[in-house]
Amino acid sequence: MKTTKEENKGKTVLITGASNGFGMEFAKLFAQDGYNLVLVARSTERLKNLGYDLQDEHQLEHVCIITSDLTRPEAPQEIYEELKSSGIQVDVLVNNAGAGLHGFFHETDLEREQAIIQLNINTPVALTKLFLQDMKQRNEGKILNLASVVSFMPSPLMAIYGATKAFMLSFSEALTNELQDTNITVTALCPGASNTMFFRRAGAAHTKAANGSLSEPADVARDGYNALMNGEMRVVSGLMNKVQTTASGVLPDSATAATMRHLMEEEESETTNYAE
Ligand SMILES: NC(=O)c1ccc[n+]([C@@H]2O[C@H](COP(=O)([O-])OP(=O)(O)OC[C@H]3O[C@@H](n4cnc5c(N)ncnc54)[C@H](OP(=O)(O)O)[C@@H]3O)[C@@H](O)[C@H]2O)c1
Repeated sequence: MKTTKEENKGKTVLITGASNGFGMEFAKLFAQDGYNLVLVARSTERLKNLGYDLQDEHQLEHVCIITSDLTRPEAPQEIYEELKSSGIQVDVLVNNAGAGLHGFFHETDLEREQAIIQLNINTPVALTKLFLQDMKQRNEGKILNLASVVSFMPSPLMAIYGATKAFMLSFSEALTNELQDTNITVTALCPGASNTMFFRRAGAAHTKAANGSLSEPADVARDGYNALMNGEMRVVSGLMNKVQTTASGVLPDSATAATMRHLMEEEESETTNYAE
């Protein structure tokens, strides 16, 4: 059940990828409800500006900024140890940081793709392992994992990205079952194409998907936040995305793959629709 601001006071959320997009919106929502913040990403100044503004606005007890490149295998352990040595307990973990790379797999750069697998899979798995063990001892905690609508279908021209998101959905739902007799919940948030830096960073700014109808990050984060607070296993954000993921359950994978490929092909016009 949703907890009140008073009940949350003194609790702490760790959000990866909090410098932009959904992560920034999550930070605002948690701060509004009185959570202390641990914000992680590479852009220190953006994290500081966001974190300290939210601390002032909502009189938070503490805000911790951690600059870390989460493609480094040692990053999760470093973050865990830094928080342990500062005596900060993580009550909610939001595995949000992620990235993609557009292109045919036989042409894309393997090193970049392996870094994406590290960022999108290995890092959230390791963070979950570390913080879940502590949550298990307290028999309390919440974890939100960023999956995607592409978790449900093949993702041509972003094959590695789609596979990482399928992993995150499967991983989250398995943990939900394992933890069903505890007070710990795991929620997978599945957004569709959204108005963040994601497409531009993935080299996909000129695709049809990036120039179609985009969800606003504040709406997506709100859906994820509500589902997390209600202990739901999974939420697909947005009506059309719900329709798309439901249809993917009955259509052959070859058909959904063809649709996804069409969306990930270059748009003919030069205009772009994503966040600048
Ligand atoms: N936007 C969409 O259409 C969409 C749809 C479905 C799912 N998602 C998922 O939603 C999550 C958030 O994406 P977004 O759309 O908000 O994208 P975004 O605007 O590009 O933000 C990505 C965040 O991840 C951080 N990040 C990226 N690489 C990092 C690294 N190596 N180390 C540490 N932090 C890193 C970025 O911070 P720094 O650059 O400061 O490090 C930034 O804060 C991702 O998992 C993405 O896969 C996005």
